[in-house]
Amino acid sequence: MQGRPAINSFTIMNELVLPNDTNSFGNLMGGRLMYWMDIAAALSAMKHSNTPCMTASVDNISFKNPIKLGNIVHIEAKVTRAFHTSMEIYLKVWGEDSLHQYQYESNEAYFTFVALDPNGKPRPVPVLIPETEEEIKLFDGALRRRQLRLILAGKMKPDDANELKALFSK
Ligand SMILES: CC(C)(COP(=O)(O)OP(=O)(O)OC[C@H]1O[C@@H](n2cnc3c(N)ncnc32)[C@H](O)[C@@H]1OP(=O)(O)O)[C@@H](O)C(=O)NCCC(=O)NCCS
Repeated sequence: MQGRPAINSFTIMNELVLPNDTNSFGNLMGGRLMYWMDIAAALSAMKHSNTPCMTASVDNISFKNPIKLGNIVHIEAKVTRAFHTSMEIYLKVWGEDSLHQYQYESNEAYFTFVALDPNGKPRPVPVLIPETEEEIKLFDGALRRRQLRLILAGKMKPDDANELKALFSK
């Protein structure tokens, strides 16, 4: 299978925070934002693999600033690395107050998606080719993050996590 540049998976999603999206403080609900992030990540994974994909896991998400009612939500998603049937997607989220003309950080997150065949079974995906400095940095760190999340999910023994171990033995 031919490799595909990371840029192919680049996805931008914008949403406007409406009253029905907010909590009792007038800010965007975290769950609504995670729903939109899941869709952006799915689109990114599907662009890379050209096949339907399913969320396998979501890493820790910390919200830095609330996104306010009437503000715009910007979500960018891009595949950082493809493994065998799974892909890691990096998301950046920020808010925009268009009235006062400023933007502010919301969060960054890593999602993992698995490509599925018509029987709903994991299917191999093309390798990802990182090109820019940022893409190469994200690609290089992806193995470590994968090992950590598989250990936390009980799907890898810590002893087998060579990339992680190398980090501590340097
Ligand atoms: C994700 C899922 C398809 C994996 O299927 P599986 O039978 O465990 O298949 P495998 O063990 O062969 O794993 C397939 C790939 O998923 C990866 N994977 C499995 N669990 C994972 C996890 N918790 N985090 C990250 N990757 C994971 C594996 O590392 C493997 O990747 P690779 O092929 O690139 O090496 C399966 O667990 C599933 O269907 N989960 C439910 C997903 C879902 O419903 N999502 C929507 C939320 S409601």
